[in-house]
This record gives sequence, structure tokens and C-alpha cells, in this order.
Amino acid sequence: MIKPDGVVRGLIGEIISRLERKGLKIVALKMIKIDRKKAEKLYEQHKGKDFFKELIDYVTSAPVVVMIVEGRDATKVVRKIIGKTDPIEAEPGTIRFDLAMTIGKNIIHAADSKERADIEMKLFFNDNEIMNYKRVDENWIY
Ligand code: CMP
Repeated sequence: MIKPDGVVRGLIGEIISRLERKGLKIVALKMIKIDRKKAEKLYEQHKGKDFFKELIDYVTSAPVVVMIVEGRDATKVVRKIIGKTDPIEAEPGTIRFDLAMTIGKNIIHAADSKERADIEMKLFFNDNEIMNYKRVDENWIY
């Protein structure tokens, strides 16, 4: 999910392009405004933490872009591409190091396990919004 700061700062194209260039296949994509209920469900693991309210305020403050990507070990690959939660701790070359400065405005979120990915994709997409197609370069990536 490209968070509000990623959208408002005009980084949608840059972020999507990094995922696509790696070889991940985008199979669902949309821009939405998340309501508080959905935001609290998305971040249920952080309920009770001191930054929770700030996190919900931030993620509901402007549109976000949600997407589902497919590929070999996609959850792990996406986590590596985005980098550690705190952009200063993230490695150069990752989205968060290259494009963000603070943990509270780290421009992108991704599920941290296959189980969370399954939960989070259902929060934002119906089955009929998930596309089935073949990238023309698939045979050259795998
Ligand atoms: P994300 O990967 O979306 O998951 C939870 C988010 O909480 C995290 O990125 C940060 O943007 C936000 N956050 C704010 N403060 C903290 C903090 N102190 N520790 C971890 N996450 C934080």
C-alpha cells in the first residue's frame, strides 16, 4: 500500500515502477481513501501501542494506493524492496531509504507474512478485482 505521503508527494509511479522492474506482476490496483474502521483492522497488530492513533490519523488523511503483486516469494521480495520500517535503518536502494526520512512517514506498507497478505488483500479487494494474465517477459524472468 502506497501510503498518503507517497501519494501526495507524487511517488506512485516511482514506487510501482520499482516493483514492476523487479519482475513482480501487479494483479490488482486501486486508489482509495481508507476509513478509520478499515485502518484499525489493517493495523490491528499495533493496537495499544503509543503511535497507534497517530498511525490511523495519518493513513486516513489522504488517498492511498492498494495493490496485490504476484511472483516468486512475493511477500519476502516486497519486504526487501521496501526496506526496514525506519527509513534511516533501511538499506540504500530500498524504497524507504531512498525516498523517506521518518518512521511515521515511511511512504509504503506491505504485509509481513503470507498469512497477513491473505488477510490484508481481502480487506481491500473482492475476488473479481484480482486479474489473471501473463506478463510477456515471464519466460525471461523465470
Ligand atoms: P508499516 O509497515 O505500515 O506498519 C506499521 C506502521 O506504524 C509503520 O509502518 C510506521 O509507519 C508506523 N509507526 C509509527 N511509529 C512507529 C514506531 N515507533 N515503531 C513502528 N512503527 C511505527
